[in-house]
Amino acid sequence: MPDSELPFEPYRTKVVERIPNPSREEREKALDRAHYNLFNLTSDEIRIDLLTDSGTGAMSDRQWAGLMVGDETYAGSRNFARFERVVRSMTGYPHVLPTHQGRAAENLLFSALCRPGDVVPNNMHFDTTQAHVLHQGAKPVNLAVPEAYDPNSDFPFKGNVDVAALEQVLRGPDPVPLVMVTITNNTGGGQPVSLANLREVARVARAHRTPLYLDMCRWAENAYLVREREPGQAGRTPLEIGRDFFDLADGATMSAKKDGLVNIGGFVATRDDGLAERLKELLILYEGFPTYGGLARRDLEALAIGLEEATEIDYLEHRIAQVRFLADRLDRAGVPYFRPPGGHGIYLDVNRFLPHLPPEELPGQALAVELYREGGVRTVEIGAIMFPLESVPGRRSIELVRLAIPRRTYSVSHLAYVADVIVRVYARREQIGGLEMTYRPERLPHFTARFRPKGATPPTAPHGP
Ligand code: F0G
Repeated sequence: MPDSELPFEPYRTKVVERIPNPSREEREKALDRAHYNLFNLTSDEIRIDLLTDSGTGAMSDRQWAGLMVGDETYAGSRNFARFERVVRSMTGYPHVLPTHQGRAAENLLFSALCRPGDVVPNNMHFDTTQAHVLHQGAKPVNLAVPEAYDPNSDFPFKGNVDVAALEQVLRGPDPVPLVMVTITNNTGGGQPVSLANLREVARVARAHRTPLYLDMCRWAENAYLVREREPGQAGRTPLEIGRDFFDLADGATMSAKKDGLVNIGGFVATRDDGLAERLKELLILYEGFPTYGGLARRDLEALAIGLEEATEIDYLEHRIAQVRFLADRLDRAGVPYFRPPGGHGIYLDVNRFLPHLPPEELPGQALAVELYREGGVRTVEIGAIMFPLESVPGRRSIELVRLAIPRRTYSVSHLAYVADVIVRVYARREQIGGLEMTYRPERLPHFTARFRPKGATPPTAPHGP
């Protein structure tokens, strides 16, 4: 990418936060202390944090100003009214229930709809979505198109659902209380779902009288990629494209920590009047009164503003350009990643990065550990640890390390640094040893599992330049 095409930040800096610079020795100590689980690191131990794009972005001056007009009324706050107005006009869904984050919205929706023995199809469930389906005694199934499992395919809509497979699941014998589609498909590389595909999914779901819900946490990024890639969508705004998606579905859950541009927040929205009443009861039980739902009212004001900012074209252009900048640097060095670059990050293709490590040596985690060791860059494994193969029958393995880019947070220089770190690790990939798990929790293992180095090259030895 020539320099004239460097992503242009459509904002300037008003407040700064110092970036820590732990030494190699400090990073080694931190790894040891953290039991080689990067979730156990503290922010002072991290140089660039690409663990997640969830709740880690920067709010705008308008959002910060919004916090100051927080109306902390328990019931009937002005901030709720504005939030509700924005979500209704964006989605067209009349019932909007705020929650403290996405998984709380999932808990409400699945508690209201799922029974033991049910099957819940999705293109690909995210970890918490899958865990909440399982928590209800129901069975999550992933029905993404075959291209979604091929890291080398440049198919533009790897988030798409395999409609024939969905039809088969809907024919039974197990009951299907809802169909879910995740836009973009986070587990499968941040890949978009096309409008044409969602139309087909909606048609099939309707034919089987099954409600269709969107997991909409990265819907604006999905709309931007549809605008770029889908025939006939080029002249339309992300809002218009998004609205077509919402019109096809019966409702949605949202983690607003992504395309809501806030540090905490979420919601569940629906057209179904009866379901909305049940959701409201559960909301009061788990989260709080329906006009605040586990948040401060000022948070709802910031969220209402963030939802609108996330659909602005210059914002989305810059966001996607940052991901592509990183991809371009990796291309120059031949580093394998899941293609094409996604909406919110780059996912390294572990099987091609570390082909010498067998699955039982946890290559994804080993690579994430190595990126931290080399340059203090924190990433996350999305592979056999986050999604143990036995947890979802029929699930196929893709072994990835995700570099999720927080919104409006890091500069091009930061991303160039990250690319250098990856390229240095790639250059000495053959010396990277595996890991073994010393503690495995029953649910959502990646958050709290513990590991230790295994293999011929002791990973605690100093490496690199
Ligand atoms: N659905 C998707 C597709 C997600 O990516 C996430 C969170 C959730 C639901 C749950 O939302 O965290 O607000 O409870 N993803 C984060 C991530 C954690 O790192 O990708 P939450």
